[in-house]
Amino acid sequence: MKVTVVGAGNVGATCANVLATREVANEVVLLDIKEGYAEGKALDIWETSPINLYDTRTIGSTNDYSKTAGSEVVVITSGLPRKPGMSRDDLIATNAGIVKSVTENVIKHSPDAKIIVVSNPLDVMTYCAYLNANVDSKKVFGMAGILDTARYRSFLAEALDVSPKDIQAVLMGGHGDTMVPLPRYTTVGGIPVTELIDADKLNSIVERTKKGGGEIVNLLGTSAWYAPGAAAAQMVEAIVKDQKRVFPVCTWLQGEYGLSDLYLGVPVKLGKNGIEEIIELQLNDEEKAMLETSAKAVREVKDVLDNMLKVQA
Ligand code: NAI
Ligand code: 2OP
Repeated sequence: MKVTVVGAGNVGATCANVLATREVANEVVLLDIKEGYAEGKALDIWETSPINLYDTRTIGSTNDYSKTAGSEVVVITSGLPRKPGMSRDDLIATNAGIVKSVTENVIKHSPDAKIIVVSNPLDVMTYCAYLNANVDSKKVFGMAGILDTARYRSFLAEALDVSPKDIQAVLMGGHGDTMVPLPRYTTVGGIPVTELIDADKLNSIVERTKKGGGEIVNLLGTSAWYAPGAAAAQMVEAIVKDQKRVFPVCTWLQGEYGLSDLYLGVPVKLGKNGIEEIIELQLNDEEKAMLETSAKAVREVKDVLDNMLKVQA
């Protein structure tokens, strides 16, 4: 069973490394447009196999999609990352061109693949992949919610001095500063988080989470890769092992939460068929208003892409 990761940069290589180390697939193909780059990263990862004790083969490819043929899952990480001062939306024009050509090539060689988009601006790049894949929307979705909840959970674990393993949380909306962490759906070992932390502290953690991507960009001069790579790998594992995990995933909405024709983060069940169910929470008025604000922000970026496509047509 084969998984392909397109883009052998920071996020792609990290994702491939996690997939190999955890033996999620028999074969992981890493593909990049830069000559020799994916081959070098794949070889370096393979050379850890005797140390980390796994069998997964990692194969590199410079833009040769025939090596990706028959992949069960494809993760698309190709595209420019954010630099300081850039918003995710600044990346739209360049990354839309990259995601379009990559998706077309992916589908040509793996028509049944489930596609996980990571490239930014995430919600709209996932839409871009969907437009170009021409397959059921249940098979095209984006990674953001697992990363954003992981940030939220890690900050909470630190503040409460508890294991991050015991923190469960849901977060919705777009992958940007309007994302909607949901304290009402956050528990620590089954205990509502609101019983364990005061409101001001919780609020400051929510605000830090919303800007979690920017915090790393400001520290590193480029965007994060360890947590994003691991998050994408966790989605691959849920699909390949048909785990039916419940995660927040950037998903095509057709009436759910009162929203249509939009990719946005919502809780779903993820299994071998991709998005197997969209879970509709009973949001209160305040949560609904925050989700609508987030949807509006994503729709504005989607309109930019739609208008660019109209001009090109
Ligand atoms: P990177 O620059 O390290 O890697 C990107 C790779 O894509 C490069 O190796 C580049 O050669 C390759 N590439 C460019 N055009 C290509 C094409 N047409 N075909 C194949 N490969 C191509 O960037 P990094 O840090 O890995 O980030 C990748 C993307 O993921 C960025 O757009 C970034 O903003 C996004 N990102 C999204 C996150 C999320 O939560 N959804 C989190 C972190 C990053
Ligand atoms: C992140 O959240 C920039 O989307 C990237 O780390």
